Amino acid sequence: ALTEPFYGEHQGGIATAPQDHLVFTSFDLTATTAVELQLVLAKWSAAMAQMTAGRPVGKVEPSREHAIPVDTGEATDLGAHGLTLTLGFGPSLFDERFGLEKFKPVDFAQLPAMAGESLDPAMTGGDLCIQACSNDPQVAYHAVRNLARMARTSVRTKWTVLGFGRASAGANQTTPRNLMGFKDGTRNITSDDDFAQHVWVGDEAGQPWMVGGSYLVARKIHMLIETWDEDPIGDQQSIFGRTKAEGAPLSGAKEHDVPNFHAVHGGAPAIPGDSHMALAAHENNGGTKILRRGYNFTDGLDSVGRLDAGLMFLSFQKDPEQFISLQRKMGKSDRLNEYIRHVGSGVFAVPAGLPAAGSYYGKEFF
Ligand code: HEM
Repeated sequence: ALTEPFYGEHQGGIATAPQDHLVFTSFDLTATTAVELQLVLAKWSAAMAQMTAGRPVGKVEPSREHAIPVDTGEATDLGAHGLTLTLGFGPSLFDERFGLEKFKPVDFAQLPAMAGESLDPAMTGGDLCIQACSNDPQVAYHAVRNLARMARTSVRTKWTVLGFGRASAGANQTTPRNLMGFKDGTRNITSDDDFAQHVWVGDEAGQPWMVGGSYLVARKIHMLIETWDEDPIGDQQSIFGRTKAEGAPLSGAKEHDVPNFHAVHGGAPAIPGDSHMALAAHENNGGTKILRRGYNFTDGLDSVGRLDAGLMFLSFQKDPEQFISLQRKMGKSDRLNEYIRHVGSGVFAVPAGLPAAGSYYGKEFF
């Protein structure tokens, strides 16, 4: 099975063409000293390298009868299936507990409260997060399970989302569909130029460890599926500004036709101004773009038997403000809001990639 590189300028799981499955988990530290945190980051970095290469984190079947297996074993023989593990640091990591205040990136803070959200505190924030993506769901799950296990005396899992299907497209990938049945990820960031301009952090963060890194925004977005399913097709299409089957902009015929947001011959624009696409498009936001890398999720049924499902929205940007400015606008006027609720949220500073074996994430902090 395919193996993604672990060492390099950037962490995997950002520019990597989205794999089919996701396990996203955020953690709070129960550790109280910087040394404990250092140990977690060093252990995790080494284990992430092993698992990315398709290897266990230790013996699955130790030779001594009374020894406890180091690796839990469920990914044995599966290979990596394109596994990437992406580590992020929440704003709370840089508070006084570990003396890391001076390593906090400039202006890095929890996301502000925004219109149209009903966040559950139990699914918000976290000191650390891991985004595990793989083409085999068990490989992604094994990775998060083993990272949590090896750090269990220092971290506590906070919230987690299992994504069962990708809902975004990378370069040369076909566009998948979200649970509303629309193609998602048609106009996403794919070129190196766009990555340089909109995704990778340079000197702005004021932290050498963030040069080549990015910021991850995670939003667990619940869809009101039963309501959506009763909405007529014409309305569904005008909510997104695209056709359902082809995914074409309402101003065009083919999925990748360039949208025209202007009124033609004095009539109304073909793409309504309050559609999701018109509100989100870079043409209407001073050039702002974000990399979307979301996944469809389901948690089964809610307490009254409705489908509990939606989009685990994940975006990468060189400044959280890119997401904030878009969401501020969409939270107010997006017609999609009638059918969605943001219930979980987090923002994480994703450090640059590691150069080679022996280095570990956060080494600069200690
Ligand atoms: C575009 C779905 C939430 C930002 C789209 C498209 C769909 C879609 C179907 C059009 C195809 C494409 O270009 O990918 C959804 C659903 C959401 C959601 C179902 C929630 C459940 C968000 C959020 C943001 C966002 C929270 C950011 C704040 C964008 C952007 C585009 C887009 C930037 C590209 C617009 C363009 O340039 O044409 N989304 N989206 N979306 N969405 Fe969303």
